[in-house]
Amino acid sequence: MASTPFPSDFIWGASTSAYQIEGAVREDGRSDSIWDTFCRVPGRIADGSSGRFACDHYHRYPEDIAIMRELGLNAYRFSIAWPRVLPKGWGTVNKAGLDFYDRLVDELLAAGIQPLPTLFHFDLPSRLENKGGFLSRDIPKAMAEYADIVSRRLGDRIERWMTVNEPWIFTYLGYALGIFPPGHQNWAEVPLVGHHMLLSHAWAMQAIRTNIPDAKITIGLPLSPVYPGSDHERDLEASIRQDGLVNRMWLDPLYGRGYPAEVVELFGDDWPEIDQADLDAIASPVDWLGVNYYFPTYVVDDPVAPVSMTREAPPSNLPVTGTGWPMQPSALTETLTRLHTEYGVASIVVTENGAAFDDPPVVNGTIDDQQRARFLHDHLEAVLDAIEQGVRVDGYCVWSLLDNFEWASGYNARFGLVGVDYETQERTIKQSGRWYAKVIEENGLVPPG
Ligand code: FCB
Repeated sequence: MASTPFPSDFIWGASTSAYQIEGAVREDGRSDSIWDTFCRVPGRIADGSSGRFACDHYHRYPEDIAIMRELGLNAYRFSIAWPRVLPKGWGTVNKAGLDFYDRLVDELLAAGIQPLPTLFHFDLPSRLENKGGFLSRDIPKAMAEYADIVSRRLGDRIERWMTVNEPWIFTYLGYALGIFPPGHQNWAEVPLVGHHMLLSHAWAMQAIRTNIPDAKITIGLPLSPVYPGSDHERDLEASIRQDGLVNRMWLDPLYGRGYPAEVVELFGDDWPEIDQADLDAIASPVDWLGVNYYFPTYVVDDPVAPVSMTREAPPSNLPVTGTGWPMQPSALTETLTRLHTEYGVASIVVTENGAAFDDPPVVNGTIDDQQRARFLHDHLEAVLDAIEQGVRVDGYCVWSLLDNFEWASGYNARFGLVGVDYETQERTIKQSGRWYAKVIEENGLVPPG
C-alpha cells in the first residue's frame, strides 16, 4: 500500500510541552511559571484561559500513553517543567516534581516508546523572571544546574535530549512583540536574550554530556525559508535581513560561524559585547538538529517597521490553516536541503510540524479532520523529497499529540491528532491520527482519507 518507504529505524513521534498539556499547576510543589503569571493578566490570552487544567495530562498520562501505543508511535517528545523540578529556579530540588517525569519515562519505555524530553519549552520559573529572566546571565547558569539534576536522574534511560525549544519564537514574541511573557516590546533586548538562550542550550548540553557521555543532544529551532514578497530589489534585500533574524542568527553561531555580520549591523549599538568563550561554547557540536517547521515567511521592505524594516506579505493565493498560516510543503523540503548543503547537518529530526483547523464535532467516535491528514501527508511527502535529495532525516514528530493550550491563542487553536473535550477530558482519536497510525505501520506514505 505504501508508495515510498521511509528509512528503517525512522523516529515516528508526536510532540507536546509541559505547560500546554499537564495542568496540575499547583500540585506536588510546582511553583508558578511565567505563563501562569502572564495568563492572569486580563487580555493576554485570546479566550481568557490558562494552562491551569489544560489536558490534565499530569494525572492522565497512563491513558495518554495508551493512546500513543494505539497510534503506534515509537517516540514521544514532551517537555519537563522547570518549576516542578526546581520551584525556586535553582537550589532545592522538588522530589515529587522529578518523580513525575521518572514515572512518565518508565511508563513510556514499558510501552516501547522512546522518551524525547526538552528541558526548556517556554515555562521559565517566575522567580527567575523576577531576577531578570533571560536578560540575565544567571539564567544560563541556572539552566546548567537544572540540566545536571534532570540528566542525573533520568540519564540512565534516555538517549536523545533537547535543551531549549525555539529561541527565536521565545525571544521575538516575548521581547519584541510582547505576545508571550514577559510581554516586553523592545527590539533592543532581542540580541542579549537570544544570546542567553543559546548559552543556556550550550551549558545545559555540557552538563548532560558530563553525566551521560553517549547522549545525543540538540536544540530545537523554528526554521522557515524567507522569500521576498515581490521581485523588487528592496524586497529581496528585506528577505535577506529577515532570514538573518529567523534562521542565520541561530544556525550560524551553532555551526561555528559566530553571529552573522548583517544581523549585528541591524541592531547597531544595541548589539552586546560577546565573549569568544561564549561563542566557542555555543559552537560545541550538537549530535542532531531538531527542526520545527510550520510555514514559509514572505516579507516586503517597510522603512517604518522596527529593526529589520520588513513586513510580512504572504502571497494571497497560498492556502492557509485555521490560524491563517500559509501552507507550502515545498518550503519544508527547502529548509531541510539548506541545512544539508549550507551547514552540513548530519542528522535532522523534524521535531514539530502540524496545523490547526476548525475541527468538526465528534461523530461515531471520531473527528473527521481530513484537512489535517492532507496537511501532514503533503509535509511528509516534502520530507521524503529531501531524503531523496540526500538529506539525512532520522525522524518526524507531529505537533501535536493532543489538542492543547496554544499559548496566547488559548484553547481556540486545535493541533491534535487526538481531540480533547476540555469539559470532560475525554480523548478522541481523529481521522488524521488513524491515518498517521497507518503511515507508521507501513513506514511509508499512504494517501490521506
Ligand atoms: C511552536 C511551539 C509549540 C506550539 C506550536 C504550534 O512554536 O513550539 O509549543 O505552540 O508552535
